[in-house]
Amino acid sequence: MQSIHASAPAKLILCGEHAVVYGRPAIAVPLSDLRASAAVTPADLGCGLSFHAPDLGGAWSEDENPTDPLCELAQMTLQQFGRHPANLRVSLRSMIPIASGMGSGAAIGTALVRALAAYAGYEPTPAEVSALVYASEQRFHGTPSGIDNTVIAYEQAIWYLRGDPPTIAPLRVGEPLQLVIGDTGIRSATRLPVAAVRERWQADQPTFERFFDLIADLVVRARAALAAGEAIVLGALLDENQHLLEQIGVSSPELNRLVNAARTAGALGAKLSGAGWGGVMFALATPDTGERVGRALSAAGAKRVLHTTVTAS
Ligand code: PMV
Repeated sequence: MQSIHASAPAKLILCGEHAVVYGRPAIAVPLSDLRASAAVTPADLGCGLSFHAPDLGGAWSEDENPTDPLCELAQMTLQQFGRHPANLRVSLRSMIPIASGMGSGAAIGTALVRALAAYAGYEPTPAEVSALVYASEQRFHGTPSGIDNTVIAYEQAIWYLRGDPPTIAPLRVGEPLQLVIGDTGIRSATRLPVAAVRERWQADQPTFERFFDLIADLVVRARAALAAGEAIVLGALLDENQHLLEQIGVSSPELNRLVNAARTAGALGAKLSGAGWGGVMFALATPDTGERVGRALSAAGAKRVLHTTVTAS
């Protein structure tokens, strides 16, 4: 039997991170040209599951490391689709920077679930894929809001409001968005800034509730600007969001430097994306300014610069 391949995109939170943990809306977009992929190939009887992931630190097997997150996700997926235990070689590849706010973990998980479901002869809905990846993220990352697994499994710009169940609405993107992403090269675990924000919120709830309300308000306006293709308005809202994230305390000198460099080079707006303290920022550019913004990010110390387009939908 031949290998079965599947893939999943990276994501960016366009606006609303952190506030989303406190019940405010956020907007996230998939980055379809930046992907993780999984290939599963049947192996000999008794081999169990083995993983080969050159971009993620090598190779491991179910026997050696049964509590590995990807191994557990694979077992959970195969159980759900009636094919556990199985003897499979799983190859994983990813172009997505890890621990950078681009959903690398959820994209790899999503590609894995899709490939295993296809192996089991089942075509899962985006909701089924998302639920499996969310269960895995919850187990290993504490209390994720669920935005990553959702935007990646649906592969569509989304409006996301945490809840049980969460409110997930596909969003209209009136005009393609030209984004330039700058990676600080600083790996930052999501849970650390999330925990720091919680401590500060506990210490001063009125101030932080107000920050979150201001973010919610700009996210509502960003939804309208996105639908109408109003890039200039959207850019200004991204700047507003960055300003609030700085006040909340999740930016960093490196992120601020990249954000300022992008703005000086003519970006319509720029902000950090994801949990902050490291990871990536992005700038909203135009076909005319994209190259210049990218060069400015490199000159300001970005370890990696990625140009990507969010297609209209
Ligand atoms: O860094 P990321 O991409 O995992 O994003 C974290 C986004 C937060 O709002 C800070 C946390 C969350 O769970 O939504």
